[in-house]
Amino acid sequence: MTTIIDQYAVMGNPIAHSRSPKIHALFAAQTGQLLAYRAILVEPGGFVAAARTFRASGGKGLNVTLPFKQDAWVFADILSARAERAGAVNTLIFEASGVRGDNTDGLGLVRDLTVNHGCLLAGRRILLLGAGGAARGVLQPLLAERPAQVVIANRTAEKALGLAVRFSDLGRVSACGFAELAERQFDLIINATAAGLEDAVPPLPDGVLATGGWCYDLMYGREPTAFVRWGRQQGAIASLDGLGMLVEQAAESFHRWRGVWPETGPVIAALREG
Ligand code: ATR
Repeated sequence: MTTIIDQYAVMGNPIAHSRSPKIHALFAAQTGQLLAYRAILVEPGGFVAAARTFRASGGKGLNVTLPFKQDAWVFADILSARAERAGAVNTLIFEASGVRGDNTDGLGLVRDLTVNHGCLLAGRRILLLGAGGAARGVLQPLLAERPAQVVIANRTAEKALGLAVRFSDLGRVSACGFAELAERQFDLIINATAAGLEDAVPPLPDGVLATGGWCYDLMYGREPTAFVRWGRQQGAIASLDGLGMLVEQAAESFHRWRGVWPETGPVIAALREG
């Protein structure tokens, strides 16, 4: 008798260095779930066709990464409230009745901060750097934690303002350019800019991180990122990269697909080792 194994994949471009196949293989082994998960390189403009082909061949769900999160948002028949608001989908669930779209990035960030690192967000002053897709994807779950305020700062200040307006009904959120951060202080600074790709950090004034404050970079790498190094220089009590968020958003996806929660701690540790 042949056993049909449920198929999952991550689609993106580039995709060769994705850690998701390893993460989901570890989750599956740990929870005893029988499934296959692979990385699929998709050409620009080819997302919908690739997702349809994957579904038609028996695929049960997909993770979606850059640059296709907006295509996945359009492709989904039914969106979760947070995916709707984010304008981006990183998790697709193929059901008989249609394609569900969710965005687990922000939940992953909040879970890594609060559960793994014990950083409470309620009542805190949060500075979110960047106003692109990465920033949009985390705002709703961040605001749901009831921080005192979220200030979005971006190189192009108008884009930050647009985001603040889009999320203004969910909490105290405002916007500015980097130059307007002088004399202001925050308990948590989250880097959602792409500056790290050039090993750079947005131009932030000294003193913008409050004493006892935290830094979190959505990016991660084998070596500490430029923003993680900046946080240490500024005296952050913790300056974290986004590897934990990556594993936590994957766990949220895994739960949606399989109905079971994997343990993330051992998987984060395994990825740190290489
Ligand atoms: P992503 O989906 O990763 O968020 P994006 O939508 O292209 O990618 O957004 C990139 C973000 O990084 C933007 O906020 C961008 O600022 P602009 O809106 O002014 O372009 C920001 N960014 C990119 N390079 C940067 C740099 N060197 N310094 C500061 N911000 C930078």
